[in-house]
Amino acid sequence: MNKAQAERRINELRAEIDQHDYRYYVLDAPSVPDAEYDRLMRELQALEHDYPEFSSAESPTQRVGGEPLEGFAEVRHETPMLSLANAFSEEEIHQFHDRVLRGLETEHADYVAEPKLDGVAIALRYRDGRLQQAATRGDGVTGEDVTSNVRTIAAIPLQLRTPRVAPAWPATLEVRGEIYMPLAGFIQYNEKLKKDGGKELVNPRNAAAGSLRQLDPRLTAQRPLAFYAYSMVAAEGMPESHFEALALLKRWGFPVNPEIQRVRDAVGCLAYYRAMAEKRPNLPYDIDGVVFKLDDREQQSTLGFVSRAPRWAIAQKFPAQEEITRLLEIDVQVGRTGTITPVARLQPVFVGGVTVTNATLHNLDEIRRKDVRAGDWVVVRRAGDVIPEVARVVIERREGDPAEFQMPEHCPVCGSAVERDEGEAAFRCTGGLFCAAQRTRSIQHFVSRKALDIEGLGEKLVVQLVESGLVHSVADIYMLTREQLTGLERMGEKSADNLLAELDRSKTPDLDRLLYALGIRDVGEVTARSLALHFKSLDKIMQANEEELLDVPDIGPVVAGHVHSFFREPHNTDVIAQLEAAGVRWQAVESAGGEQPLDGQTWVLTGTLGMPRARAKNLLEALGARVSGSVSAKTSVVLAGEAAGSKLRKAKKLGVEVIDEAAFNRLLESYGSSL
Ligand code: IVH
Repeated sequence: MNKAQAERRINELRAEIDQHDYRYYVLDAPSVPDAEYDRLMRELQALEHDYPEFSSAESPTQRVGGEPLEGFAEVRHETPMLSLANAFSEEEIHQFHDRVLRGLETEHADYVAEPKLDGVAIALRYRDGRLQQAATRGDGVTGEDVTSNVRTIAAIPLQLRTPRVAPAWPATLEVRGEIYMPLAGFIQYNEKLKKDGGKELVNPRNAAAGSLRQLDPRLTAQRPLAFYAYSMVAAEGMPESHFEALALLKRWGFPVNPEIQRVRDAVGCLAYYRAMAEKRPNLPYDIDGVVFKLDDREQQSTLGFVSRAPRWAIAQKFPAQEEITRLLEIDVQVGRTGTITPVARLQPVFVGGVTVTNATLHNLDEIRRKDVRAGDWVVVRRAGDVIPEVARVVIERREGDPAEFQMPEHCPVCGSAVERDEGEAAFRCTGGLFCAAQRTRSIQHFVSRKALDIEGLGEKLVVQLVESGLVHSVADIYMLTREQLTGLERMGEKSADNLLAELDRSKTPDLDRLLYALGIRDVGEVTARSLALHFKSLDKIMQANEEELLDVPDIGPVVAGHVHSFFREPHNTDVIAQLEAAGVRWQAVESAGGEQPLDGQTWVLTGTLGMPRARAKNLLEALGARVSGSVSAKTSVVLAGEAAGSKLRKAKKLGVEVIDEAAFNRLLESYGSSL
């Protein structure tokens, strides 16, 4: 065989193998026996070995996995990866559908109904038909680059197919979907692990997630992973219908779940849900619910999204899985803000794919309401990722008359008095940061993924650091020395150096992350971001009075009160000063861009408005608009209040759109901004 012949044969073999893959993974109609497939693959491998000049990253032989990585790089999602709102009842689906109809001012709506696979979300970027990058969802804005691992998954095309009749793929394409481990593969893989004396994987979902996070792609290549595409990110020439977009993805070579259907109205959605609930036990993969998405993309954009979830889609979850077990005793746990939570210690039980040994009992009122006592048989419930809870007592099985549970009067960790906040269900340890449990939890929160994201400083290590007295406050973690770290149990020199490097890297957090990390009561990620966007500097937030805090979108009087009093507490301001002294420098954040509904628009406010003008400005900026002081031909919209004068006249003269405050409020409502 000469070189030209070899090249021809290589191309032939690749095309043939790709065709078999397509039939197997996408059409679910295998065309050759495994032995024949293996023979083709071996022939191709041999030729590529003899003629390395014809090697190609897209060759099917490349699925074996490349060199191990040091770590995963960060990838920013140009279009944020949203999550889905959940519905747990038929009623909630009706409410969702009613909201959609109202928002669209229409009487019927077509949805695409899809199984909700329990795996890992992935974004795949293609350039000129070739797989360029695969990234996990991460926090929705930034994910991890897992391209080398994803390349080993045979169901994911490395090179897109060019269909004979359907439109060709655009030069740049992003496809999203779910990587999952089929149940058969999961069971087989676990059997193999057991035989080899390894640790078994907990459930298919964790198995898929763990497989994708292997640093050595050759290990990922051995895991039986599969993939279903569920969305095409807006691209040139893309169909207006989501359903048709999925059909197109299929022709380009992506596996699309065959259970996906178009349905009409809430009635159609609910019928689909029931049908899938029945099919569920026989499906070859785990699903935790179904998803309904408005089919029409223009209708989707009319509705937009609220915080992180689209208003045009919803997940209907299957009921939580439940099991019965023995409650051995009731313990209490002290949380970050001192809340004392009763916890049930259980005889281990397998629920919804994992072994549960602890379950929350929420608070004393719940314990009384459910009449839970030590020694009882209880129903333990797990819904998706949420913490397992004790749903109810199996009262017929109670033996004798066990004593009622009493809240301790003193904190079991620091001995301080336990008090109940007025009008609240929670009991709290009054020890504040004197309490080692509260200190530990607040440090664990500070370093956690959504906060400063300090890798290598896990929960157990934080406990060790607090218990050994090396760390008292979050600022102390920046004072740790190599000697102190290597003196700890189970801490090698390499881990210590890595941790010190990580700590150094974490010293320039975005302001919103820092605010979230501080652990102010009721300040979650979203509120932290609103505060950061509004004030742009920590000093300003620290100095703001409650009234000024109320100007921030999404902040009400209770949260404003928490923020205000947090910064009046000398201990907290000391910690901030210490962080600064340790070299921590936070950065102002800019509004997200990309997917904001009013991106690129310039607004002008004029006249007297019912709401404070600063608030209107903030709300507009939060939606992506720029707010300017003067009207020009470039102005997108003028918001005119009472007694508007020259700016209104100028707008009319230039033909700029003018709206009044009532219309503005309706607009805000349609974007889900709180008024
Ligand atoms: S759509 C804007 N469709 O569920 C909508 N998600 O909270 C974004 N998931 O982690 C997602 N099956 O990976 C969509 N058919 C499906 C899905 C699906 C599973 C996962 C997804 C994400 C979570 C959404």
